[in-house]
Amino acid sequence: MKILSIVSTLILGGTLLYADAPKTEDANLASVINSGKMATKTLLETLQKNMQEHMKKGGVMEALNFCSTEAYALTDKVNSELPKGITTKRVSIKYRNPVNEPQDDELKVLNSFAEIETAKKALPEYVVEKADEHTYKFYKPLTINNQVCLKCHGDISGDKVLEKAINERYPTDKAVNYKMDDLRGAVVVMIKK
Ligand code: HEC
Repeated sequence: MKILSIVSTLILGGTLLYADAPKTEDANLASVINSGKMATKTLLETLQKNMQEHMKKGGVMEALNFCSTEAYALTDKVNSELPKGITTKRVSIKYRNPVNEPQDDELKVLNSFAEIETAKKALPEYVVEKADEHTYKFYKPLTINNQVCLKCHGDISGDKVLEKAINERYPTDKAVNYKMDDLRGAVVVMIKK
């Protein structure tokens, strides 16, 4: 795995996880970063806008219905509208839906984010990995950045109806007991060149 670019210094246990991009890769990298930022913004805005509308309309149960029945379909829809060769997804070490389980290379990046969090250092804005000759992956770390996230990812034991609904839909759910500002996972943008 080759980490090509990162905005803030990422030194873990003395290992430098990124290298300056060689000049020949500069142009490619700049376009990867642009695509990554654009796709991340589109995905997050789409999911958050829809989730908040459902929350307003019918409260947490309605928002849960939305997240569990439409978040994935909506991600597909966003992907179909992005330029060809660009797809997005969300991953987490503590995933709720097993389809969001990270692949091996993604897990390495998530683990390095988790180490930064444990060290109480600032998370990078993004990381770019060259996954193979033609594929780049752009990672945007996601945190619990809004109190609303805690309704479904915090301590949910106080709301038995919600807890039951989540456990029924996601029997292997790991995505609870987060606190404000915790690292939640990442958006991954796959970019084919
Ligand atoms: C109304 C409940 C609810 C709220 C509020 C909510 N989520 Fe989720 N979240 C879910 C559900 C349900 C899933 C699983 C979606 C699926 O099945 O595709 C999920 C999945 C995710 C995932 C994908 C990884 C995984 O665990 O499967 C991330 C990342 C995530 N949520 C982050 C957030 C953040 C950040 C916030 C606050 C801005 C938030 N969520 C608010 C219910 C919620």
